[in-house]
Amino acid sequence: MLIDTHARIHDYLRISLTDSCNFRCQYCMPDENIQCLPNKHLMQVDEIEQIAKTFVDLGVNKIRLTGGEPLVRKEFPEILSRLSRLPVEISLTTNAVLIHKYIDQLKAAGVNSLNISLDTLNRDTFKEITKRDQFPQVWDNILLLLDEGFRIKINTVAIEGVIEKEILDFVAITKDLPLHVRMIEFMPFQGNHWNSKKVVTASQMLKWVEQEYDMVKLKDEPHATAKKYKVIGHEGTFAFITTMSEHFCCDCNRMRLTADGKMKNCLFGSEEMDLLGTLRKGEDIVPFIRNSVLRKHAVMGGQFSKSYKGADASELKNRSMIKIGG
Ligand code: 5AD
Ligand code: SF4
Repeated sequence: MLIDTHARIHDYLRISLTDSCNFRCQYCMPDENIQCLPNKHLMQVDEIEQIAKTFVDLGVNKIRLTGGEPLVRKEFPEILSRLSRLPVEISLTTNAVLIHKYIDQLKAAGVNSLNISLDTLNRDTFKEITKRDQFPQVWDNILLLLDEGFRIKINTVAIEGVIEKEILDFVAITKDLPLHVRMIEFMPFQGNHWNSKKVVTASQMLKWVEQEYDMVKLKDEPHATAKKYKVIGHEGTFAFITTMSEHFCCDCNRMRLTADGKMKNCLFGSEEMDLLGTLRKGEDIVPFIRNSVLRKHAVMGGQFSKSYKGADASELKNRSMIKIGG
């Protein structure tokens, strides 16, 4: 088992398959001309399998594949099929634009729950945010996935100027569709122009919803990052991921592996452990994994000790989101 110095058991691994993406969301990919990693620096299929297996042997029971956009990695079907042989629950975070091509593979791998990133329900706004006119394809794919019986969570970054206009529409789509919409407070990463004034907090969003709807608070799952609610009579639910206004680090069970094989013990941590380099030298990666977990800070990678309001994004040491993997 992987236990840190704050007695937290780490049994959940998020693996980034690529640092490239077919969308260009600014909050995630700050530099449009960003250089993607050359293939030889990426973990190869065998390496992903071997590293994942090592984590599973150390007690990991859930793996999430992320990116960039995981479906742009051409070996995605092979990686999925290899990992599905491990005794773990597998899930995926995707922008869904390509997902109609992989329905059968996902089913064969036993994936039944997917997180889909979608920040707006308006086609023009979608184009502004992602620089791609693909809202219709994404929406069709969401409906397709529901039809095919997948459990769908929608991840919506609360973008100032957008969420004010759309939050009630996002809650409205949970009326007839069994979707679970999660509004995520805007987080700082390298180059994403974050400042604390741009953070629309969960409590602010909740007030907007309360003015319109009768709702109930639902019980949150263990290790959940989201605080869940339901409008009375709606099929789906909505929730807030309060990373900035109320962190949930005390219950954290997550570890991350970047596409170039560096382990990060926290989304906001600046420290990385080079598992891929170690593996390629023919050395045992287990001590490095254990060491990374032991070095994990109690809260927010040790980078925001006080309130997020005083945080200065330029002082934060971290990669951009696209280079970390959501
Ligand atoms: N703030 C909040 N959420 C973000 N994501 C990416 N960048 C940010 C950010 N700066 C979200 C993506 C994806 C999830 C993995 O993280 O939208 O759904
Ligand atoms: Fe791509 Fe998701 Fe990043 Fe947007 S947020 S650029 S869809 S990885």
